[in-house]
Amino acid sequence: MHYNFDEIIDRKGTSCVKWDITKAYFGSDELLPMWVADMDFKTPDFIVEAVKKRAAHEIYGYTVRPESYYSSMINWIGKKHKWKIEKDWIIFSPGIVPAVNMAVLAYTKPGDKVIVQPPVYFPFFSAVKDNGRQLVYNQLHIENGRYHMDFEDLKKKIDNRTKLIIISNPHNPGGSAWTKDELMKLGEICIEHNIILISDEIHSDLVIPPFKHTVAANISEEIADVTISMMAPSKTFNLAGMASSSVIISNPQLRNDFQVFLDRVHVGMGNLFGMVASEAAYTQGEDWLNQMLEYVKRNIDYTETYIKEKIPKIKMMRPEATYMVWLDFRELGMDNNELKRFIIEKAKLGLNDGPVFGPGGEGFQRMNLACPRAYVEEAMLRLEKAINILQ
Ligand SMILES: Cc1ncc(COP(=O)(O)O)c(C=O)c1O
Repeated sequence: MHYNFDEIIDRKGTSCVKWDITKAYFGSDELLPMWVADMDFKTPDFIVEAVKKRAAHEIYGYTVRPESYYSSMINWIGKKHKWKIEKDWIIFSPGIVPAVNMAVLAYTKPGDKVIVQPPVYFPFFSAVKDNGRQLVYNQLHIENGRYHMDFEDLKKKIDNRTKLIIISNPHNPGGSAWTKDELMKLGEICIEHNIILISDEIHSDLVIPPFKHTVAANISEEIADVTISMMAPSKTFNLAGMASSSVIISNPQLRNDFQVFLDRVHVGMGNLFGMVASEAAYTQGEDWLNQMLEYVKRNIDYTETYIKEKIPKIKMMRPEATYMVWLDFRELGMDNNELKRFIIEKAKLGLNDGPVFGPGGEGFQRMNLACPRAYVEEAMLRLEKAINILQ
């Protein structure tokens, strides 16, 4: 079946974060919203049908996740990422951000240190700080147009209060699909210093060929033993509103520690439609995903070429994964506030402001390209016009 990703669907008035809260978030509702990691593509038919079928039953009481839910996930992860997991390793979470918060609470004590690698998905920061733990930055550096981990700096930052490292694998916002070598080095440092690695792999299905996703826990048994993997169909199939994701832990002690915490807060039941959508996605989603990634890749190509040819003052970091691009505006010489106002008021775009992603985000903006090409074309025109007026 051929899916039409060019189709424009009006999402306004659906209580949708991306389109309906632009006024509250950016102070304007005239913006083209290309911010939050949410796609403007229609949910694939096989997911809609599965949800409709379950909805037609008309009783939505307490529900358990069936065997078929687990096997769909085990098969998907086995086939896609060559990682053989067992049903017992899978723990439900209503989201990855809640899971990261629960992991911080389950594996650390107040005052312990947690390392993150900015610029990175910002809810990692609040998961540490809001829970009374110390946030330690191990900043990524750019080399050959891609983010790299700084292992020397990491080693210097570790002391006996360091208990966790949280990574986005692949990386949001820069799009690095961390290699086996990079993850192995990181894993070995974790083993040596008795640190637990939280590998947030929510974007793992969104690696753009020829790049490949490496599951950190699949590198070696020793690394698996210290790793908490987090996966979900929510980015892959745009099901964030279904609040359904998984924490996968092979180490029984670490799994038990997480489970105890989850049970204490009683959020393990989950959402009935989330489990139905997740199973449909994992059993029937491959063709849709391949076509979607191909479409997004063409949006990335278009954006890259347009920027190079017509707006050369901006530089685009070419992502190896995710449907977002990280745009470098540093050549414009604006400070953080000026750049933010320029994007909103002059370019009339709703992007994610770089500094929010922590140190290293200054001068950058994140743009979401999981949308019909017409939006990308409009965004490029708006940016070009705004920048031309500056000159
Ligand atoms: C790295 C990363 N983790 C987690 C999330 C969100 O997870 P959830 O909506 O399941 O809480 C996102 C969303 O963009 C993300 O980029």
